[in-house]
Amino acid sequence: MEIFDSHAHYHDGRFVPDRDALLGEVLPAAGVIGVLEQGTTLESSRASIALAERYDYVWAAAGIHPEDAKDLPEDWLAQLRQLLAHPRVKALGEIGLDYHWLDACPKDRQQEVFAAQLALAKELDLPVVIHDREAHGDTLAYLQQYRPAGVLHCFSGSWEMARQALDLGLYLGFGGVVTFPNSKHAQEVVTKMSLDRLLLETDAPYMAPVPYRGRRNDSSLIRFVAEKIGELRGEDPAHIAAVAAENTRRLFRL
Ligand code: NI
Repeated sequence: MEIFDSHAHYHDGRFVPDRDALLGEVLPAAGVIGVLEQGTTLESSRASIALAERYDYVWAAAGIHPEDAKDLPEDWLAQLRQLLAHPRVKALGEIGLDYHWLDACPKDRQQEVFAAQLALAKELDLPVVIHDREAHGDTLAYLQQYRPAGVLHCFSGSWEMARQALDLGLYLGFGGVVTFPNSKHAQEVVTKMSLDRLLLETDAPYMAPVPYRGRRNDSSLIRFVAEKIGELRGEDPAHIAAVAAENTRRLFRL
């Protein structure tokens, strides 16, 4: 099975002990042919770019996550614009709205930073990687207003929301959650949607699939996600992974 992980955070501290071994040998040996490494702050966006410079199957996204939108330097948008000019940066991400953690950053500030990044993505003609947690209505409203190309990562909405996102031309990303017994929404959406808009992802180090739930996630475990989606759709998991990889290359122009 050939795996393209459209959403990972290998710059995370949990990969300090074995990051080089994983990215240098273990993942390629397990069939991982691509990784889109995501930034969440200016600093982690720089770390993502450093990984993409080092490994030729790794590309980077740069952006400000809603939880990290509160205390930005005044010139954050100019700094981000500079990072986006790097040739290994293929998307603006991850950006979005997170109403679960409002202590981390109030709603109005999240919306301001999200909107500024959507406008920048349109200006630079870059796809976006969207984080939406408990903010489905507002996220969709912004996407309808700005109409970027992109993916709703770790999609958790209903089939009705999925249809609206697909109508906007967006892709939907799925990872370990699909394998959780209580993920009825995600399982319904992956069963009903057209395969040509589906991306596979880890959100590593988070969201490891069953039977590794709760452990550190990495891109090799995407095979369990492809197997679950294959089971739900009655299709070959290797075919699911191959189409998802092709979709990822198309969306991010790789
Ligand atoms: Ni993420």
